[in-house]
Amino acid sequence: MKILGIETSCDETAAAVWADNTLASNIIASQEIHNIYGGVVPELASRAHMKLILPVVERALQEAGVKLAALDGIAATYGPGLAGSLLVGLNFAKAVAMACGLPFVGVHHIEGHLFSNSVLHAGPQPPFLSLIISGGHTQLVLVKSWGEYEILGKTRDDAAGEAFDKVAKMLELSYPGGPAIDKLARQGNPAAVKFPKGRLKDNKLDFSYSGLKTAVLYHMKSLTPEQRETQKADVAASFQEAAVQVLVDKCMLALKMQGLGQLALAGGVACNAQLRHKLKKKSEDEGFELFFPPPVLCTDNAAMIARAGKFYLENGVTSDFGLSPQPSLKL
Ligand code: KG4
Ligand code: ZN
Repeated sequence: MKILGIETSCDETAAAVWADNTLASNIIASQEIHNIYGGVVPELASRAHMKLILPVVERALQEAGVKLAALDGIAATYGPGLAGSLLVGLNFAKAVAMACGLPFVGVHHIEGHLFSNSVLHAGPQPPFLSLIISGGHTQLVLVKSWGEYEILGKTRDDAAGEAFDKVAKMLELSYPGGPAIDKLARQGNPAAVKFPKGRLKDNKLDFSYSGLKTAVLYHMKSLTPEQRETQKADVAASFQEAAVQVLVDKCMLALKMQGLGQLALAGGVACNAQLRHKLKKKSEDEGFELFFPPPVLCTDNAAMIARAGKFYLENGVTSDFGLSPQPSLKL
């Protein structure tokens, strides 16, 4: 099967071709325009998608060496995400599918992330646990079978990536903050400051980052301007230590509670070196299988959308051309 995947839910304009059981191309145009604002500006994101969508799709087809007429279907993200951003990729996909008489399927963005470990390899086999950690989402998902999911825990406030981005802003680091903290933390002492780990009494698999974020803010306020500069790496390392340890602890608890032997990471924060290191060690000590995608498939991409689309299209599932963007779509 040859599937064109399109992803425009936030600030990445992405297209990929899945052809004959391999990833044939994976094009991602990141919108740098948002960096100067320290966050994604929705209006600018949709305008940039409008400009980029055609060249990005053309390049994906060209690199894959696949003509539109040779496709078996088109898959596009329809939610959750920014309404104006989703609209561009979804309408583009529907228009091309309609004009070429191709089957079309709308893909849930989070379900796309669940498929991200199955793009380059066979990946985890259901049932398995997935930790989705991005700028907009933090969820522990039980994948009972493909298409059948249960959310075991989620964030009560900020998403993990959002917490990294906000703390990076406090430390006057560049946007997006996750990679900047990851890099700076390598020069700092993770035990320098004891930050709270956001334990919750009721659902132990839920997450909360607001306490940790506020603790970093108060700590920074307690320092002199000079200390803020000299202790920056220590604060970054100590924040990362707390943020990552919570993720590790909850994954371990969920694996035990559900009696599962496979853990799959997905989303931008899954690029974090310290998180990967800690979970790798845990998987060796406790004997579970750990999956994480290469960084280019952790952050938003269309390869995972094409892969999820392939699952649905080969099972005969298509979407109506009346499908509209659903910004708050739940899994
Ligand atoms: O999955 P993604 O590209 O977009 C969303 O769907 O949100 O994730 C972006 C998030 C940002 O918050 C970014 O700061 C974070 O992932 N991130 C990281 C790292 N690389 C990206 N967080 C921690 N460590 C990293 N190395
Ligand atoms: Zn995402």
